[in-house]
Amino acid sequence: MLRAIDENTITDAAIEQMASTPDPRLKRIMASLVKNLHNWAREADLTPEEWLEGIKFLTAVGQKCTAYRQEFILLSDTLGMSSLINALHDKRATEAGTKSSLVGPFYRTDSPPMRLGDTIVTKPSNGLEVVLYGRVTDRSGKGVPNASVEVWQPDETGNYDLQKHDPSEMDLRGHFHTDAEGRYYLRTVVPTGYMIPMDGPVGDMIRAQKRHGYRPAHIHFIVGAPGYREVVTALYLEGDAHVDSDTVFGVTESLVTKVNAKDPNSPIPNLPSIKFDFQLAAATAKDMTGRVGADPSQITKAGA
Ligand SMILES: [Fe+2]
Repeated sequence: MLRAIDENTITDAAIEQMASTPDPRLKRIMASLVKNLHNWAREADLTPEEWLEGIKFLTAVGQKCTAYRQEFILLSDTLGMSSLINALHDKRATEAGTKSSLVGPFYRTDSPPMRLGDTIVTKPSNGLEVVLYGRVTDRSGKGVPNASVEVWQPDETGNYDLQKHDPSEMDLRGHFHTDAEGRYYLRTVVPTGYMIPMDGPVGDMIRAQKRHGYRPAHIHFIVGAPGYREVVTALYLEGDAHVDSDTVFGVTESLVTKVNAKDPNSPIPNLPSIKFDFQLAAATAKDMTGRVGADPSQITKAGA
């Protein structure tokens, strides 16, 4: 039946045509996307010029992506989408665990394997040396032995290796495994907060919105073990000027830590230290990855 298409009937028309989608999950996601996208256009009373501006913006976001730069993840992060998807992921857990935070655009899958106590600092550094230590436990507080602990962070100037050196060179990344009691400890330098990459379309958006563009100082982690939900998270440093106004909304209260100048319980007590225990929830059959983001080179490969 030929129907009159207007600013309201177009929504049902589009959803009905997509009703032939065999995959029920894809069908639901797309119907909801169309419904909300159309509502957005109606609510904002979007003009042709504005929509074209949006298409130009998304085109520029795609063109900025390389194997070492992921502008779409940055867009997801700065719109609060990554944080929202993380919160939905945490809600699906059947047991309490450490809260998720952003993967961000600087994760790499192949960080070097290291032994407990090693330093992830491999280039000359003026940063304040610090010990990161704690335990990986289950819900009952029992240590999880041989848990995988991937860590990556910016340096004392707020730069990741991907931004500074030949991108094939790694620095300030390491892949550790906990000991028989679930303990981990490693050496690094205290990171500094940084401004997100502002030389692309996402930077233009941030400037147009008069946002400051900063992330508070943080250290990224992916922690996991067989039988448990992987935790993708980051630790944030108390006292940072932007700890309550993170441009990508990654900070949550339970992930804020501090540098202790003297901690007799630290495995390397003559250095300042940051202590944090990660709690893993038992995996359920429904669990998919909690990674909102990926190594940029993997995304470029998938899209090629
Ligand atoms: Fe980061």
